[in-house]
Amino acid sequence: MLFTSVLAIAACLSGALGEVYLGFNSGATDDSKKAKKQADFEKEFKTAQKLQNSPGSFNSIRLYTNIQAETTDTPIEAFPAAVKTNTKLLLGLWCSGTTTIDNEISALTKAIDQYGTNFTNLVVGISVGSEDLYRVSESGIRNSAGVGQDAETIIDFIKDVRKALKDTSLSKTLIGHVDTWSAWANKSNSEVIDEVDFVGTNLFPYFEDDKGNDISNVTNVFEFALNSTEKAVGDKPVWITETGWPVSGPDFGEAKATMDNAKTYWDTVGCTLFGRQNVWWYVLRDSNPDNDAKFAVTKDLSTTPQFNLTCPAGSGAPASINTSAGNVIGVSLVGIAMPMLLAVAAWLA
Ligand SMILES: *[C@@H]1O[C@H](CO)[C@@H](O)[C@H](O)[C@H]1NC(C)=O
Ligand SMILES: *[C@@H]1O[C@H](CO)[C@@H](O)[C@H](O)[C@H]1NC(C)=O
Ligand SMILES: *[C@@H]1O[C@H](CO)[C@@H](O)[C@H](O)[C@H]1NC(C)=O
Ligand SMILES: *[C@@H]1O[C@H](CO)[C@@H](O)[C@H](O)[C@H]1NC(C)=O
Ligand SMILES: *[C@@H]1O[C@H](CO)[C@@H](O)[C@H](O)[C@H]1NC(C)=O
Repeated sequence: MLFTSVLAIAACLSGALGEVYLGFNSGATDDSKKAKKQADFEKEFKTAQKLQNSPGSFNSIRLYTNIQAETTDTPIEAFPAAVKTNTKLLLGLWCSGTTTIDNEISALTKAIDQYGTNFTNLVVGISVGSEDLYRVSESGIRNSAGVGQDAETIIDFIKDVRKALKDTSLSKTLIGHVDTWSAWANKSNSEVIDEVDFVGTNLFPYFEDDKGNDISNVTNVFEFALNSTEKAVGDKPVWITETGWPVSGPDFGEAKATMDNAKTYWDTVGCTLFGRQNVWWYVLRDSNPDNDAKFAVTKDLSTTPQFNLTCPAGSGAPASINTSAGNVIGVSLVGIAMPMLLAVAAWLA
């Protein structure tokens, strides 16, 4: 009993301080719908890691597809770019508007063959689909969100991926699905929760126009949405796969898209998550020209962000990376606490 709880504390400590992913989302095209090439991805990933005053290095990237834009099943050039820049990857398979994900699976297995463990060691998870269930929901249809996919199909696709990866070096990688909090909270989709290893949730108080989403109330709206996901999901891991606030764009309910509000959202929501929960921020650079709301943290891949990324003192976020004191403390905490806990555990045993 004591032994297991000490081990649990040790696992929590290393989890909390060692393996929390901090990243950005990354589309396959740029904001003029041009396919990104390896050099574009490399530049993007380097910028993400070196943002001025960033609370930790954003060295993880979530992708939406394994397929290079404008090809049938060529592996996306983000893969070699990630290998070159030591960027961790949350992979995605695009699942809507199709009856089969064979091309997505083919691109992935080709990449495993081509890049081997240089690539697979970087993969932290695989999402089968992105917001497919939202797009077929009431609000998705009302917002003309586009073609989606039902729960049954997503479950079949997840099984396809598990089968395809069974004898590869990704056989033990966590497989999940990414969707909006409202899709996870919808009981009609509960069998998808049963099927996944992790749940990716996308949370945008900006778009919650019926929830009192003035910037002054974002903590409440965010917590309501995250809590709703967690309640539906039970004890499986919940990863925050998209969140952010636009720097420009139309009003939504009480929400206004401004640079100041993007900074406030970063401070009041982002800074309470960074380093504690897996987060892939939306977004370093925009990739969807059809979305009037623009979320980019930086312009032209400059390492100087559009707004100040320093987190407020006391927010719990790691210190800015160009003042390393916070990180040094974090590392030494693990260095001292872990061996001590393990020694106690061994002694108790
Ligand atoms: C993996 O990386 C090493 C070191 O950069 C390199 O020598 C090797 O060729 C790479 N393997 C593959 C399959 O790309
Ligand atoms: C819940 O999911 C079902 C099945 O996809 C969908 O038809 C329904 O519209 C969703 N409910 C809401 C409130 O969106
Ligand atoms: C703040 O957000 C919560 C959760 O959405 C909502 O219940 C509440 O009415 C909002 N408050 C205001 C003043 O809009
Ligand atoms: C969300 O859950 C947390 C922890 O259980 C609680 O403290 C908070 O009040 C909840 N927030 C909302 C808006 O429901
Ligand atoms: C940057 O943001 C932090 C946290 O909100 C704040 O304390 C600091 O004063 C800001 N720095 C500048 C130069 O505005």
